[in-house]
Amino acid sequence: MAENGLAMSEEQMNLSSLEFWSLPKEARDRAYAHLRQNRPIAYFEEPDWMFTSDGRGFFAVTKYDDVFSISRNPTLFCSGRGAVSIPDLPPQFLEFFGSMINTDDPRHSHLRKLVLRAFTPRRIEILDQRIEELAESLISDIAKKEEVDFVAEAASILPLKIICEMMGVPSEYEKYVLDRSNIILGALDDEFLPVGKSVEESLIVAAVELTALMEEIGKDRIANPRDDITTSLVTASVDGEALSASELASFFILLVVAGNETTRNAIAWGMHALEQFKDQRQLWFSDFEANSVTGVDEIVRWSSPVIFMRRTATAATKVRGVDLVEGDKLLLMYGSANRDEERFSNPDNFDVTRKESRHLGFGGYGPHQCLGAHLARRELHAIFSEVARVMPDYEVVGEPSYLFSNFINGIKHLHIRPNVR
Ligand code: HEM
Repeated sequence: MAENGLAMSEEQMNLSSLEFWSLPKEARDRAYAHLRQNRPIAYFEEPDWMFTSDGRGFFAVTKYDDVFSISRNPTLFCSGRGAVSIPDLPPQFLEFFGSMINTDDPRHSHLRKLVLRAFTPRRIEILDQRIEELAESLISDIAKKEEVDFVAEAASILPLKIICEMMGVPSEYEKYVLDRSNIILGALDDEFLPVGKSVEESLIVAAVELTALMEEIGKDRIANPRDDITTSLVTASVDGEALSASELASFFILLVVAGNETTRNAIAWGMHALEQFKDQRQLWFSDFEANSVTGVDEIVRWSSPVIFMRRTATAATKVRGVDLVEGDKLLLMYGSANRDEERFSNPDNFDVTRKESRHLGFGGYGPHQCLGAHLARRELHAIFSEVARVMPDYEVVGEPSYLFSNFINGIKHLHIRPNVR
């Protein structure tokens, strides 16, 4: 395949190899385009670089319609057998990572209901003022400087503070939470992997430490209930039973990690996209509100911060003519589905006015659809509204530094000059 002057062999398009995940995003996007056209349900061997492997391998699902329909058929393509990661969760991981994202109904909807209330659009509206206030203060601090790492000073701070406040985590623990959530979703990257520790050990230590924090906050909330999510969790009952210690731990970890790692990257990619597509910046920022709904969703479509979630076939079936047997693993490749030329016109263009979106960046509209989507949209809106108001002429300095990961499309550092006149 030779597009845009860059050739890639079939061998290089191997989603099981570590080399593939070290390629630039543009190259991976080109590989997805090739897969969509030639092998839309492509089999890959089990990676040999993960902490565990069952040798079964997986199918990468790269077309929009397939990701959408598989997401909406949890009876045939479930989340609760093994995990939504490539390897099944080993027993020592279940206690910390066996959260609702890895369950099916009826358990899943019981668990989801416990926290749903905190994430409804009405509830998020109440948070709006706080989100805007924070965005304003972060961007005004940045505007005073000559050059900053936008990820460190804004993109990672806003989602972190908001999810910690929602969970009732004291502010002095925010950095503690950030460091541990970075390890959980960024453990392949040397910058986040603690020196001298294996990925497996680092994940467990980070999870144990977050669990200890949750236990401490939880004990306090049993005695002194407050209006936060941790209070809802420690006082909840499902079918008359309180959540078990491991259900509490994995819930807490899921929420702080999901609330942090995704929106941060969407914000960073948004800044990067608006540098690459300056006409879109000009168009959006000249009348921010007019294009803010489509602009925010375009950032999520274009960047697709979550690379995939896995589903497992519960019976023999066929997808696009490919035979699957019970137990087969399917990776829903959101970034590829979001660039599907059969669904989106000029999919590689970043277009803040794109109307036909219904993108899959927050999932395929099934039962596990992102719980934090409204929250993430409000956070993105708040940050970009301030960027448009205070530093519309910012410039990106040098190349961003990208996260090495096969699960999160991340930007670790993005240096900018605010260029405030
Ligand atoms: C731009 C930011 C975000 C992106 C791109 C994103 C993406 C996703 C995706 C792709 C899924 C899986 C959907 C599926 O399997 O069908 C998901 C699930 C989830 N997300 Fe988000 N997310 C974002 C922000 C957030 C935030 C701020 C929170 C707040 C805690 C959050 C909490 C969750 C939870 C709890 C789930 C699991 C839901 C379930 O299993 O029922 N996400 N997200």
